[in-house]
Amino acid sequence: MPYPTKRTYFGDYVFNIYEDVYEPAEDSFLFAENLDVKEGEQVLDVGTGCGMLGILAAKKAGGVVAVDLNPYAIRCARENSALNGVRSKIDFVQASLFTALNTTVAFDLILFNAPYLPSDESEAASWIGRAWAGGANGREVVDCFISEVPLRLKPRGRVLLMQSTLTGVEETLRKFGAQGLKASVKAERKLPFFETLTLIEAKAGL
Ligand SMILES: C[S@@+](CC[C@H](N)C(=O)[O-])C[C@H]1O[C@@H](n2cnc3c(N)ncnc32)[C@H](O)[C@@H]1O
Repeated sequence: MPYPTKRTYFGDYVFNIYEDVYEPAEDSFLFAENLDVKEGEQVLDVGTGCGMLGILAAKKAGGVVAVDLNPYAIRCARENSALNGVRSKIDFVQASLFTALNTTVAFDLILFNAPYLPSDESEAASWIGRAWAGGANGREVVDCFISEVPLRLKPRGRVLLMQSTLTGVEETLRKFGAQGLKASVKAERKLPFFETLTLIEAKAGL
């Protein structure tokens, strides 16, 4: 693997970022600041990127599965897990969403800092473009995730999903509701140009 091109920090944690891997940005940090993992929980980090959220979760979690469709992200995240002393607590899988997971496996907490920006096909043609490209309306990956996530949750499990007001927060809350999950906004951060990052929490079994 080539040398990392960048390095970023969160608290005492350090993350090397390789070419073609999403560099943690405002969305990642808002997510990280609001990540509440309970002791011993089983956590799934979808779209792990450089591994930041899965690695932070691993401190308290009983175990973490980190998934990304970008093979460079998986290698980068695996290396960062070793760098931060949690390699033995995380399994890494290169796959899209839940496709590689056995259907009998369920999680207490599922995280996804999703690709949520409206985009054309050319953006989705590169690994880094896949980090933010959400298709013509920005909702392609998010909607697919929402329709499949209930089957992957334990009876009182919960989901944390990051998206932006650019691509329909109300629609997301409604779609989680239609799947039987109780969803609400957990945290927000305003960005320039009329966009607000929104962390949504959806709970099962209420
Ligand atoms: C916005 S980045 C977030 C990265 C990291 N979790 C963070 O917060 O910094 C989105 C990540 O999702 C991955 N991704 C996009 N579509 C995916 C899919 N269908 N299945 C799994 N991962 C996906 C991208 O490769 C990228 O690493």
